[in-house]
Amino acid sequence: MTERWMSLERVARLWIVEAGDLIKEALKNPFDIDSKSDPDDLVTEVDRNTEAFFYHKIKENFPDHQFLGEEGVAKELQSLKGTVWIVDPIDGTMNFVHQQVNFSISVGIYEEGKGVVGLVYDVMNGELFHAVRDRGVFLNDRPLKQVTDRSISESILGLNANWLVEDHHQEHEGLVRLAQDCRGTRSYGSAAIEMAYVAADRLDAYISLRLSPWDYAGGAVLLEEAGCKATRLDGEELSMLEKGSMIACKPELHTTIVADYLEKG
Ligand code: IPD
Ligand code: CA
Ligand code: CA
Repeated sequence: MTERWMSLERVARLWIVEAGDLIKEALKNPFDIDSKSDPDDLVTEVDRNTEAFFYHKIKENFPDHQFLGEEGVAKELQSLKGTVWIVDPIDGTMNFVHQQVNFSISVGIYEEGKGVVGLVYDVMNGELFHAVRDRGVFLNDRPLKQVTDRSISESILGLNANWLVEDHHQEHEGLVRLAQDCRGTRSYGSAAIEMAYVAADRLDAYISLRLSPWDYAGGAVLLEEAGCKATRLDGEELSMLEKGSMIACKPELHTTIVADYLEKG
């Protein structure tokens, strides 16, 4: 199996780098920007073209594989049977539009619901994180060192300030307490990059109350191979078909945060 996963990773890596080059090219010219669910939920023609690029590559080369992407190039997926590619063509579209840095392409390959390949490509910083199940996690082909599990008071958490000011969710008080107790918070604006940063020991945890499978499918494989955990905020398994909350974390810190900050609120 591992050989098959490694060959899928090699192909996915070629495509992710090619897609990154196309995105960099696209940045040289003006592009259309639209809003989706609300005025701050941005999408561009580059998001759509990048998703179409992956969809066509996958369908040409692996006609029996399934595809799940953010921008609706393929029809909605009902099950995770077989081999499924879960793609976020640009994770961090707001950064892409406003800053032209700190966005990524995220690809997760799942077999019968199990993550076997994960890639997160920070396009402008030239950082490609990849993992193959049972083969470890790498940054630009160099193995990442073992993560260190730190106490809350020594931890840096990836947390968007929105989750601290919006108090209509049950975790609100716990998250405010957590932000007070930790060493510091950061928000990079790309869930996939923040998950990769936990796997690379640059962050100790990343927390979000609302994400979609394409935001975390690639990062979840990186985290598993790094010996970290990615679950819902209540500790339940992530769904690759439905939206929900997510905590990506070092293992002991995960137990502490879920028990002392999230379950109690
Ligand atoms: C978004 C980014 C952002 C997170 C949002 C996501 P998108 O993805 O990951 O960091 O806070 O919840 O929707 O829309 O740029 O692909
Ligand atoms: Ca996303
Ligand atoms: Ca996206």
